[in-house]
Amino acid sequence: MRIILIGYGVVGQGLTNILLRRRLENLKDYGFNPKIVAIVDRGGAAINPKGLNLEKMLTLKKHNGTVAADREFGHAQMSPLSVIESTEAEVIVEATPTNVKNGEPGLSHIKTAFKTGKHVVTTNKGPLALALPALMELADYNKVYLRFSGTVGGGTPVLELAKKCLAGDKIVAIRGILNGTTNYILTEMAEKRITFQQALDSAQKLGYAETDPSMDVDGIDPACKVVIMANWIMNKKLTLKDVKVKGIRDVTLQALEEAAKRGNTIKLIGSIDDSAEVAPTEISKHDPLCVSGVLNAVTFVSEFAGEETLIGRGAGGMETASAVLRDLLDIKYNLASKMLT
Ligand SMILES: NC(=O)c1ccc[n+]([C@@H]2O[C@H](COP(=O)([O-])OP(=O)(O)OC[C@H]3O[C@@H](n4cnc5c(N)ncnc54)[C@H](OP(=O)(O)O)[C@@H]3O)[C@@H](O)[C@H]2O)c1
Repeated sequence: MRIILIGYGVVGQGLTNILLRRRLENLKDYGFNPKIVAIVDRGGAAINPKGLNLEKMLTLKKHNGTVAADREFGHAQMSPLSVIESTEAEVIVEATPTNVKNGEPGLSHIKTAFKTGKHVVTTNKGPLALALPALMELADYNKVYLRFSGTVGGGTPVLELAKKCLAGDKIVAIRGILNGTTNYILTEMAEKRITFQQALDSAQKLGYAETDPSMDVDGIDPACKVVIMANWIMNKKLTLKDVKVKGIRDVTLQALEEAAKRGNTIKLIGSIDDSAEVAPTEISKHDPLCVSGVLNAVTFVSEFAGEETLIGRGAGGMETASAVLRDLLDIKYNLASKMLT
């Protein structure tokens, strides 16, 4: 499998680290021997049709800031679109920053990959939140796979559990804590009896929250995950505009203390049943969803198997990269089984 990696930040570098560390096991256990033939960042690209040296790419990125600095294979300022169009590969891994305004640049990367017959694995929620139903159709039309396990739950296999382990059952509702930053803030407020602003400051100091925390605290990030789960797991053709979203800025210490008197607490819950919503919600402290700190948790309500709750870390470079590896193996498996039929 030849792979083009677009975006070489936390997740992209995590992927090359995992491929290096798992090289032998990938080959022995899965017959999987991928070659990264191109890596692109904002400085340009490194391209080698025979496969790039990943140790060298990690060192170059660390010391020079861009893979385009490679003397032999570097192409300064080469754009991701021209790399996707001109480089032979089976798959692109898209790991550029999430943009929920217009999905770019990820949206164009994904569409161009499809048009040139390449499968896509992405961790970028923006294009999916805005256009997942259309992208799924476009992938089908071009007879390629689109996979995005890392977009929900980081390395925790939220999408796979629902899609594969509960195959044959019908998932009728999903509820979840889908954002670690806001869960950290609400946990800190409740446990340390501090205000939203104090908890946000602490999250920013620890690097859990961005300087502009609005994607998290205004509920946009979990709303993107609601869209992805609704489409992929429940076959609902939703986009971001269909989700009713309320963040946690107005959750007060007083409201948390009132909830505590009832044996409850307030969590930012994303839910999908007849409608799709993200909102601060009072839940019992005994609810399996009631996890603390940066953890995520998702409860699937299915017709026959009942309720299952999956808990795990919702982000992290290596965690999310492990989801990318699972998606690559899934594509390899699908391609191999197609060849058998
Ligand atoms: N980190 C996580 O825990 C996590 C978890 C789940 C999902 N995600 C999602 O995964 C994606 C990547 O996350 P990350 O944490 O790896 O982000 P990141 O560290 O900011 O890395 C983004 C990478 O994309 C590159 N890039 C930005 N604009 C580009 C453009 N126009 N053309 C080519 N490359 C471009 C950057 O180049 P430079 O290196 O030159 O700046 C950088 O290498 C995001 O959409 C994020 O929301 C992340």
